[in-house]
Amino acid sequence: MSIEHLIRVIPDYPKPGILFRDITPLLADADGFREVIDRLAERYQDKQLTHVVGIEARGFIFATALAYKLGVGFVPLRKPGKLPSATYRYSYQLEYGEDSLEIHQDALSVHDRVVIIDDLLATGGTVLAAVELIAQTQARLLECAFLVQLDDLSGVQRLADANIPSYTLCRF
Ligand code: PRP
Ligand code: ADE
Repeated sequence: MSIEHLIRVIPDYPKPGILFRDITPLLADADGFREVIDRLAERYQDKQLTHVVGIEARGFIFATALAYKLGVGFVPLRKPGKLPSATYRYSYQLEYGEDSLEIHQDALSVHDRVVIIDDLLATGGTVLAAVELIAQTQARLLECAFLVQLDDLSGVQRLADANIPSYTLCRF
């Protein structure tokens, strides 16, 4: 089955009016999940990455599998208060609320080359927060990659406006 068909729509979750794109059927499908990781690994295998950066929580699923496949490190961007050492923090608006992300200050340095991985790009608020945090570490960001992009929200345009390359496996 194609990747698109393994993502189901849940209307009015978590709030009325939101069409929630649920990736759990894809995760439960061994072939679908493998295809996602293999396609991302193919794209990044010769890019001399030092780390894959993943966004909590759903981004972790793809970012950790990709880091393992590429043989590079994984760096988590976490929701506030979860990382134990000194952090940089950035707050942002969501399609359905507000949140913050943090990174350990010593997680990356100017010598590192990374991609940011998340499951889904909607308004772009989350990934732009992630981009700001990577900038604070001075690591080089090659690209941001997503399983899903929602075309009627402004995320892709906001990334393009900020000159951040992006890559997506499927669009709705
Ligand atoms: C979802 C999704 C992305 C973000 C995309 O995460 O996993 O990270 O929203 O939305 P945006 O482009 O409008 O910022 P959520 O904050 O719901 O957290 P979760 O991964 O912990 O479920
Ligand atoms: N994150 C932000 N918007 C979303 C949506 N419509 N479906 C799933 N995850 C999301």
